Amino acid sequence: MQVIFKILRQQPNSAPRIQNYTLDVEPGNTILECLNRIKWEQDGSLAFRKNCRNTICGSCSMRINGRSALACKENVGSELAKLAEISAAATQLVTATGGNSLPEITVAPMGNMPVIKDLVVDMQKFWDNLEAVEPYVSTKARQIPEREFLQLPAEREKLDQTGNCILCGACYSECNATAVNPDFVGPHALAKAYRMVADSRDDQTAGRLEKYQQGTQGVWGCTRCYECNTVCPMEVAPMDQIGKIKQEILHRQDATASRSIRHRKVLIDLVKQGGWIDERKFGLQVVGNSWQGLISLLPLGVKMLQRGKFPPDFEPSAGTTETRSLIEAVQKLESSSRVQTTVMTAEPKPPVEPVTSEPTYPPTPAFGWTAYAELINGRFAMLGLVLLLTLEFFTHQDFFTWLGWR
Ligand code: SF4
Ligand code: SF4
Ligand code: FES
Repeated sequence: MQVIFKILRQQPNSAPRIQNYTLDVEPGNTILECLNRIKWEQDGSLAFRKNCRNTICGSCSMRINGRSALACKENVGSELAKLAEISAAATQLVTATGGNSLPEITVAPMGNMPVIKDLVVDMQKFWDNLEAVEPYVSTKARQIPEREFLQLPAEREKLDQTGNCILCGACYSECNATAVNPDFVGPHALAKAYRMVADSRDDQTAGRLEKYQQGTQGVWGCTRCYECNTVCPMEVAPMDQIGKIKQEILHRQDATASRSIRHRKVLIDLVKQGGWIDERKFGLQVVGNSWQGLISLLPLGVKMLQRGKFPPDFEPSAGTTETRSLIEAVQKLESSSRVQTTVMTAEPKPPVEPVTSEPTYPPTPAFGWTAYAELINGRFAMLGLVLLLTLEFFTHQDFFTWLGWR
């Protein structure tokens, strides 16, 4: 069968262009085999990376038909089948011909990394970000004891999934957080970070968790778009590993530690209380632990009031009891698996900081200002704030002047 390969090519300091190559191929041919043939038979100037040809080294990652994948893993038949499926779903075309009589496969360099030439990208930041999570078992643990380190099979099993990462860059290439936040270290680095957290030989867990939760460069920078899980050729599921680090952080720290932690804890508490989120309380409890936090809510609160989007009441969900028992069952399961792991660990990790006790229902508001704002039922707080804004308008003095902050 004949297939047109549309390859996005780029020379240093010039705009990208698409070049077409037509090949006689079998459905079982891998994309890498096709690229090799193009290079050997038609155009020796085409640049791409490859090494093992067997899904081991991670060198041949590139965008095939719009998503990052290993060229030595994907084959012509499966790519055309996927295209046909998409075309049929879009009910535009019944075959993947792109208006041409021959089927087409597009090949482009990975995203989120600058192109060096054609399909070769500069992965320096990818490696630097990996280095930033200190992907090595801690120094102390590397001081070799008299005997080898012992690990129980269950402890070793926890490293299996992340240990499969071949650092191909496919997840990083598709990561939405990386595209908009240059500080975010990326899914590959955080998957490796979890491997370190889960390793029973490492004795730096507390320090690592502290590091991985800084700002938006660590786990809180992930937007949970699921792309990394979708494209990873080794089923490392980086987003799941990021979730496990978050669980570990949430387990060890209480709601006063940071806004990110408070955000998750408040969300779970509110859903447990009412079956879904009481939006009147959500913002107040997340940022309401300080005057500055409450004031930062003002513009949003006023806009919500103006547009009639501030919910006047809260109606608990009819399924509140079921929702609560589901959440509690999951929490119980998580804490029992954590206890089991601790019991099985041959050399115990550093002591775990005290866990915040489960709230009673209805829980006591966690913060002074939140309690105050909830006491006067949110709505009145907002009305008061509108009044203050009106005064501000007529007196030409702002809040900060009244508060003596300037
Ligand atoms: S996590 Fe998966 S996609 Fe990301 S670098 Fe590792 S193997 Fe590649
Ligand atoms: S789930 Fe998070 S880490 Fe994975 S691609 Fe999306 S933003 Fe990036
Ligand atoms: S060439 Fe090694 S993974 Fe494709």
